[in-house]
Amino acid sequence: MSKLLITWWTWFIWSHAVVELLQAWHQVVILDNLSNSVQEVTEAIFTITWIHPLFEYADIRDIQQVETIFTKHVFDGVIHFAWLKSVKESCDKPFSYYENNILGTINLLRCLDTYNVRNIIFSSSATVYDASSEDAPFEEQMKTGNTTNPYGTTKFIIEQVLKDMAQWRQMNITCLRYFNPIWAHPSGLIWEDPHDVPTNLLPIMMEVLEGKREKLFVFWDDYNTMDWSCIRDFIHVVDVAQAHKIAWENLAKWFNIYNIWTGKGTSVLEMISLVEEVTWEVFPYEIVSRRDGDVSISIAKVARIKKAIGREAQLSITSAIKDALIFRANIYN
Ligand code: WQD
Repeated sequence: MSKLLITWWTWFIWSHAVVELLQAWHQVVILDNLSNSVQEVTEAIFTITWIHPLFEYADIRDIQQVETIFTKHVFDGVIHFAWLKSVKESCDKPFSYYENNILGTINLLRCLDTYNVRNIIFSSSATVYDASSEDAPFEEQMKTGNTTNPYGTTKFIIEQVLKDMAQWRQMNITCLRYFNPIWAHPSGLIWEDPHDVPTNLLPIMMEVLEGKREKLFVFWDDYNTMDWSCIRDFIHVVDVAQAHKIAWENLAKWFNIYNIWTGKGTSVLEMISLVEEVTWEVFPYEIVSRRDGDVSISIAKVARIKKAIGREAQLSITSAIKDALIFRANIYN
């Protein structure tokens, strides 16, 4: 059993990772920014695990506040989700992303170094791959950088800083690059922040099903794919969470990067068909022109993680769709 610091903010992958870690009898301390929706999640985590996770308030941009946590706890390591995560929002608020994600990470690393905590799992992103010079499927050693949005830039820069930490500060670091996580937890109790205005595909599709939106606008134009719509590597959020737990329990020395799963591509139009199969309803959509920054295909090569931990993603896209519907039914009933 380890004692881990979990850093997070707006993306609820952390809550799913906390559930997996608590259920494996690890102790977790969550660095919390007092966001108003955290109360709902802690109650959900308790309902699922019968354990109250421990929260410590700190604004990661303030190193004194972060350091206070290290004077109260002795950690075996940290799982760092690096905070803000919306591609679109990062284009509107780049400085907020640089302050929280990059400055926040530097503050965290200073404290880890000072208090001799040298094991890090970093929740990175497929957006670090240089899609302009490399074709999918993306492999870990392929070119990164030349990012198309501030969110991806922060993840790319953090990876570079962590590589230096491994070399010059003897830290053991594993970066997990995931592609398109889709929610929700099978309990129907945790998902993404329901107060958020969604920008990702599946949450928007859920809002169409709830009648909050008339239809889905499918951003296609003339992509060179089998049905001309974009292809993505969608992965159930519980598989993403379990990958973080397994990565911690198998933490390798020095610096390692793994794509997490699945290596299978699903097009936007195929996602619509899957939702129709689950709901037995025709799903309303309209084809419109491309969205800036979209790449046609983004899927992972997964040989490295399969070799390292000997398993693949366990859950299907259909199960994620069903879990998302259960969550939405719960919060609206
Ligand atoms: C998926 C596909 C859109 C909305 C992700 C996220 C994040 C990151 C990886 C980790 C695209 C299409 C969407 C809509 C649509 N992962 N779409 N109509 O763009 O792959 O970005 O990158 O950090 O998960 O930032 O995810 O869900 O926005 O879009 O047609 O209303 O759905 O064109 O092809 P994306 P997304």
